[in-house]
Amino acid sequence: MATFQPEFLEDLKSRASVSDIVGRKVKLIKRGREFVGLSPFNAEKSPSFTVNDAKGFYHCFSSGEHGDVFSFLMKTEGLTFPEAVEAIASQVGMDVPKPTPDDARRMAEAKGLREAVAAAGKYFESQLRMPAGKQAMAYLKGRGLSDAAIQRFRLGYAPADRMALLAALRHEGFSDDIMVETGLARRGDDGHVFGYFKDRAIFTIADAQGRPIGFGARALGDEQPKYLNSPDGPLFHKGETLYGLDLAREPAHKAGEIIVVEGYMDAIALAEAGMPNVVAPLGTAVTESQIKRLWRIAAAPTLCLDGDAAGRRAAGRAALRALPILEPGRTLRFALLAGGKDPDDLIRTEGAAALRAIIEQASSLVDVIWQDALAEIDPSAPEDRAALDTKLHALAREIADATVARYIRDAFRERLRSAFAPVAPAYTSARRFERGGRDQRPVAPIFARPGQSVAAHGALMREARVLYGCMCRPEIAEPFLERLGVLTFSDGGMNALRQGLVAALVDNPAIDADGLHATLLEQGYGQTIQRMHLHASVRRRPTALLGDSADAAEWLNHSIEATEQRDAEQNILKRARALTDDDDRAMAAVDLDVAARVIRQDTGETR
Ligand code: UTP
Ligand code: MN
Repeated sequence: MATFQPEFLEDLKSRASVSDIVGRKVKLIKRGREFVGLSPFNAEKSPSFTVNDAKGFYHCFSSGEHGDVFSFLMKTEGLTFPEAVEAIASQVGMDVPKPTPDDARRMAEAKGLREAVAAAGKYFESQLRMPAGKQAMAYLKGRGLSDAAIQRFRLGYAPADRMALLAALRHEGFSDDIMVETGLARRGDDGHVFGYFKDRAIFTIADAQGRPIGFGARALGDEQPKYLNSPDGPLFHKGETLYGLDLAREPAHKAGEIIVVEGYMDAIALAEAGMPNVVAPLGTAVTESQIKRLWRIAAAPTLCLDGDAAGRRAAGRAALRALPILEPGRTLRFALLAGGKDPDDLIRTEGAAALRAIIEQASSLVDVIWQDALAEIDPSAPEDRAALDTKLHALAREIADATVARYIRDAFRERLRSAFAPVAPAYTSARRFERGGRDQRPVAPIFARPGQSVAAHGALMREARVLYGCMCRPEIAEPFLERLGVLTFSDGGMNALRQGLVAALVDNPAIDADGLHATLLEQGYGQTIQRMHLHASVRRRPTALLGDSADAAEWLNHSIEATEQRDAEQNILKRARALTDDDDRAMAAVDLDVAARVIRQDTGETR
């Protein structure tokens, strides 16, 4: 009964201002962005109780009490959570949705799901201590894990017999449907149900409250995949979960610092080495929701990544993901490990101090973005410097918070300036005039081709590279087809080739690179393909495309993202221009951000 839809609670929180609710009990005085007052939790003479409406919470420096509108009523009026929700809803004039029979059924089911996952966790843990789990136990011990760590992190073993877990859970009264829905089991085409994990060491994945929601399962040898994870489902959302958060939350909050590593084993190794404020994403790039979650714990979480190409790419992507959502005082830091070692290896070979040193020297977000931009655009020619400048400014424009955007833009500008300062002064027209035309050296062209802007050239290059990637590795292109299908490339030829390529891959998903090439040639794309090759290979050869499919897919994803971003910007610009006809005020909105906001209001789009 007491379960509310998260959307409803968010909505309610956004309508109820903390200062209103708190103000009924505590006399508040506005000070800057916050309100202050005498603590309702402690008798005091000078105010140490603050309320921040923008952030939606109150904080009491004298008692350490901290919370939102709901917890305020729960703590000061002794209400239960549902009562606090009711009270606030009536104050802001919102109806509390009554659970429909459907909701009730879903809630009961969710309960069944949770219990099933918890029971499976217990079962895996017990199996690790059985004779069948001997090899798995030896494996974990061999990796340096103590009994205490095995227990604390709820490690386990999924037996070789795929039916064993099912038998145990059926015995406890869980239906096959529940097991399938939680991803613990799968149903074959013939309706036969069997366990998902087989002969693997189990890492229990819990939510922030410590309730098991899924599992990561590691092969004991070289079997592939190395890790098999529970599929996403009603309880388990990889993109929103951080492995180890339940254990890391408190120490991280205390330390005001949280470390993010890539793997389960890394997280455990750090915790064991005295850095319990550590979490890991679940084998995917860090998501926006994970970053926001981290920010609720620490202002500048440190991402600790491999220093290899994949790790650097991951750092770059995390930086780009954080950029639009940066807030004053919130950022990310990046610690890159050298020598192909992950944090677990480093701790075992060189000790925890070595890792700590690297974490302390972490680079800033601006550093990472700058380095990445430099790796992509080698600024040896003026037009490349212009491209770099354009790129960095475009990136800064993505930042929603105006103050942060200003500071980051300044930081980029400063870097551009100092990076190019040693270069001899350009041949300005004045100087050439002074020299009386004796200097015959031509001024390097700013544009890649007459009439073609640097930005357009960059776009063409990116578009060519996306097509190049798909044509080299058609076997990994399938998951991207939908996104590719809705894009519009700025270059007409590339756009036609994009359409041809998508159509060819949809017609024949199993086509290989040679087959695809032949098909596109047949359809008359020969010249465009040649042009595509020319532009796709101008700079850094995409070695990721030669690597395994995960690397290649990551590369392709990254490249498509880059074109999508431009596509979106173009759309905004186009629509901003259309707006100017009938809206004088929009005419003044040269700034892309402002234009974007106007359009959103105009079309009623939210966020
Ligand atoms: P790593 O390959 O870096 O794992 O992948 P690791 O933790 O160092 O593994 P060990 O030390 O060889 O045991 C990092 C994370 O990516 C996910 C897992 O979450 C893993 O912890 N991953 C990796 C998968 O989901 N599947 C895989 O096949 C590999
Ligand atoms: Mn490892």
